Amino acid sequence: MLMTTSNDHSGNQFDEEYYSSDSYTNYLQEHDQTAEREVIAPLLSAISPEEDWTFLDVGCAMGGTLIALKRRGYSCKGTEISPYCLKHSPVKKDMVHGTSTNIPFDDNSFDVVLNCGVFEYLTCQEAMQSIDELIRVAKRYVSLWVFSPNSDDWSQQENPDIHRMADTQKLTYEDYKKRIEQNGATIKTFFRIEDTPSRTAPEWHFLIAKT
Ligand SMILES: C[S@@+](CC[C@H](N)C(=O)[O-])C[C@H]1O[C@@H](n2cnc3c(N)ncnc32)[C@H](O)[C@@H]1O
Repeated sequence: MLMTTSNDHSGNQFDEEYYSSDSYTNYLQEHDQTAEREVIAPLLSAISPEEDWTFLDVGCAMGGTLIALKRRGYSCKGTEISPYCLKHSPVKKDMVHGTSTNIPFDDNSFDVVLNCGVFEYLTCQEAMQSIDELIRVAKRYVSLWVFSPNSDDWSQQENPDIHRMADTQKLTYEDYKKRIEQNGATIKTFFRIEDTPSRTAPEWHFLIAKT
């Protein structure tokens, strides 16, 4: 199977078939439980948010994270490029079209901004622009989860996905750190695959604090 060599920004590739096959076989049935267990519960225990904090998930797919946050009473929104997700998500009224390189919100709009499992579809240049954008729209924290360079998940045998690119596999911890700090932010915590119990989510977890 060949990897995609350029990012198709139409989002049409992230369709019902994509969300029903390979590692996403049960995604449409389980996305809210998975987001609750793997993303939201660990994030909230790390940041202990106040009741009035607001959240944005950039590349939120079917919006499982939004469902988990709304269940707790938090105000939240998501962005997506996938027409399928924007049309069929159970929380589509809380979602807008927007790429991670051009997030359609003002500076400091949300207390916490999430981005999980999106960078593997971007070029390195787009990933760096996305870091600028994620930090720009955040007031306090950015939770950024990416595949680590050595992750098995890059392998088309281990984790088949013809739309994933190989470009951001080149990015090192130092590349991320430098770009984060150029934006006046700092890495508050960093988890690598060795420290992370789940093997189903991207393996480098940056919790970025805006200073
Ligand atoms: C592997 S899924 C991850 C979905 C979700 N964040 C999660 O962790 O389950 C990748 C998602 O990123 C979205 N995506 C891809 N390129 C994007 C971009 N440039 N900006 C925003 N979202 C993008 C896709 O539409 C897709 O829903």
